[in-house]
Amino acid sequence: MPAVTYVSADGAREQVELAVGTTLKDGALENGIDGIVAECGGNAMCATCHVYVDEAWIERLPERSEVEDELLESTASERTAASRLSCQIKVSDELEGLVVQLPEEQE
Ligand code: FES
Repeated sequence: MPAVTYVSADGAREQVELAVGTTLKDGALENGIDGIVAECGGNAMCATCHVYVDEAWIERLPERSEVEDELLESTASERTAASRLSCQIKVSDELEGLVVQLPEEQE
């Protein structure tokens, strides 16, 4: 199972192994990682599952859909080039070693 590291806003790192097909949002919630609210339950309607993808990974993820791109305009913490919605990214073998940072605020 691919290992994904979540880095909290205060710098604490937690590495977990996630089944292929799990979203990064579910991976965080299922492993008790704080910092993801996911108000809409993963339906690309809330932007409270915002994460910053580690720089090395930005180009390696599938592109944002139009819906994801629009929703990222309403994140509580600043949107950057690294911003993604964690409910829209599914873990795959290609993402082994992925690192994502959690923003300071989600709401
Ligand atoms: S959980 Fe609502 S947009 Fe991702």
